[in-house]
Amino acid sequence: MIRPVKSYLETDRLTLRHFTADDADLLIELDSDPAVMRYLTGGQATAPEIVRESHLPYIIAGYERWDGDLGLFAAHERDGGAFVGWFHLRPEPDGPRDEAELGYRLRQAAWGKGYATEGSQGLLHKGFTALGLRSVWAATMTVNSGSRRVMEKLGMRLAGSIPVPEDMQMIEGAEQGGVRYEITKEQWELR
Ligand SMILES: CC(C)(COP(=O)(O)OP(=O)(O)OC[C@H]1O[C@@H](n2cnc3c(N)ncnc32)[C@H](O)[C@@H]1OP(=O)(O)O)[C@@H](O)C(=O)NCCC(=O)NCCS
Repeated sequence: MIRPVKSYLETDRLTLRHFTADDADLLIELDSDPAVMRYLTGGQATAPEIVRESHLPYIIAGYERWDGDLGLFAAHERDGGAFVGWFHLRPEPDGPRDEAELGYRLRQAAWGKGYATEGSQGLLHKGFTALGLRSVWAATMTVNSGSRRVMEKLGMRLAGSIPVPEDMQMIEGAEQGGVRYEITKEQWELR
């Protein structure tokens, strides 16, 4: 258990913070659960060396790129400090800075408590009120009902279907493709 030091965002029950170079084990453990990885890799764990040498350095470089305002953030329970998983709110690497993608990956122990919705609501609020975002989008597999439900509860609207990348075709339900949801600042204000 790691107690968050400097908070990026607080919600009723969660604290989000920047990842540090010491956090590889949290990401390795999260990605080692086949249920968590079901719609991402078909259940396969991410190799620890990929987390250490690629994922974590990329996450940390993102704080530099977006001045610490946007990126991928570790989430902990405020009560007790347990690691819950991560959320991201970040533009495409070469895309406009005012359009960001929302994403989340939570430990199975944290599912079903409303955390994905709560953390995402906090990020949308910060993104639209303090970070100058104009729109936020999110994508998932058509069959990932839990993730789609979170997007719907956030007030995001189905914007269309998207292809599933070649290297994800082995995932159950890939033949049904993917879906993209969006919400603009105006829609968020009126929700
Ligand atoms: C998807 C995920 C983020 C949801 O996290 P969570 O904290 O349990 O989500 P919430 O509790 O905020 O909301 C989930 C909603 O989806 C519903 N739901 C969950 N699983 C479902 C399923 N299989 N079918 C239909 N609805 C489902 C829940 O009932 C809830 O809706 P409700 O509040 O109307 O009852 C979590 O399961 C996860 O991290 N999964 C693995 C990684 C992943 O797939 N990430 C998304 C990739 S795009």
